[in-house]
Amino acid sequence: NTEFTWKVSVPIWTSGIMSIFAYFLTVRLIPGLKNMFIKANLFGSDMNKRNSDKIPEALGVVSGCVFLITLFIFIPIPFTNYIFENSNFPHNEFVELLAALLSICCMLLLGFADDVLDLRWRHKILLPTIASLPLLMVYYVNFNSTLIIIPKPLRVWFGFSVDLGLIYYIYMGMLAVFCTNAINILAGINGLEVGQSLVIATSIMIFNIIELSGSLWKAHQFSLYFILPYITTSLALFKYNRYPAQVFVGDTFCYLSGMTFAVVGIIGHFSKTTLLFFIPQIINFLYSVPQLFHLVPCPRHRLPKFNKETEKLDPSVTVFKKSELNGVARLIMTVFRSLKLVNWEEDNDGNVKCNNLTLINFVIIMIGPTREEKLTKILLIIQISCSILAFSIRYPLASVFYDV
Ligand code: UD1
Ligand code: MG
Repeated sequence: NTEFTWKVSVPIWTSGIMSIFAYFLTVRLIPGLKNMFIKANLFGSDMNKRNSDKIPEALGVVSGCVFLITLFIFIPIPFTNYIFENSNFPHNEFVELLAALLSICCMLLLGFADDVLDLRWRHKILLPTIASLPLLMVYYVNFNSTLIIIPKPLRVWFGFSVDLGLIYYIYMGMLAVFCTNAINILAGINGLEVGQSLVIATSIMIFNIIELSGSLWKAHQFSLYFILPYITTSLALFKYNRYPAQVFVGDTFCYLSGMTFAVVGIIGHFSKTTLLFFIPQIINFLYSVPQLFHLVPCPRHRLPKFNKETEKLDPSVTVFKKSELNGVARLIMTVFRSLKLVNWEEDNDGNVKCNNLTLINFVIIMIGPTREEKLTKILLIIQISCSILAFSIRYPLASVFYDV
């Protein structure tokens, strides 16, 4: 029926058109504002280049603001029918939209604070948790469904469904912490932060479009309202952040992106599928665990090392004495070494040189020293392949595990 099709597609098309405007606005704004950032002392140097020019940092705040403004202007669109008819206004949907915006807005502010103040590691855990509170509150008021359906093979033990209660809220809070930080630590070569976020966002968009014809179309329509302007504003940022980078995106962008993905996943009830699009980030996180928890010394920067002679990137290393490691660290590193996951050089005095544990360094170990531009491309191809894998897991597997 056409009336239904209109109801589904008109707000989405409107959002799409507004997003295209947002793209051109961001593309124009970034070059104009670049010098303002340098004047405000917001700059860094590109460590993988010969020269050390000042590159403005935290430009994610520009694309983020345009993203938010687009959404602010968009707020009345999905509700125009109700406004004109003056009846049955869906307050629950309205408050979802506002809370989602509040969480993302909050994350933009906190991310920018991180870029300006260079916060400590523990704050990076705390900030997304705080920013996700408005969202969790709305989730509580609107759904409060913490019931999860048990996959078929496990039903013998757990029954058909389990009410997770508080644990589910903790899971949702942790999802926000994970999404924000996971993007931020898979970083350090031009274009990678935005590139991976764009692949994840596009995957979510495709998933939403497929699901629009299903019974949960409302949740996926809601997600598209966020994802479309997110993609176009980030695309504009990518134009300037790709090799050779004219601007850096800053933690502002990583936090904003992670929060956007967490928000749509939570409100849209597809957080598990969202996580499926994070496979490279999950691998990078697990590989990084020894350094993140300081079992193995972790330098301030773990990005690959520029080799001035070859103009290629080598894996960066962390240097320490083997005696510094405790039992757990030794065990993990022994496993990593026997699986050939690390480059480990040790001399007779117990001085160790080991690569920093990031996916980027691991790729360089596998394929040998690589030029920065090519390395970003390879990592983005890995991200895209993982999204394809995610889709092929999501659809066939869902019918094995659940009645769909
Ligand atoms: C995270 C990583 C860190 C990595 C850094 C690079 C962890 C625990 N932290 O730290 O290892 O070195 O991101 O972003 O894994 N930069 C470049 N080229 C780029 C992007 C960034 O040289 O393409 C440099 C610039 O000097 C820039 C700085 O990285 O100023 C930004 O680092 P920042 O985002 O503050 O680092 P973290 O997110 O704390
Ligand atoms: Mg960062």
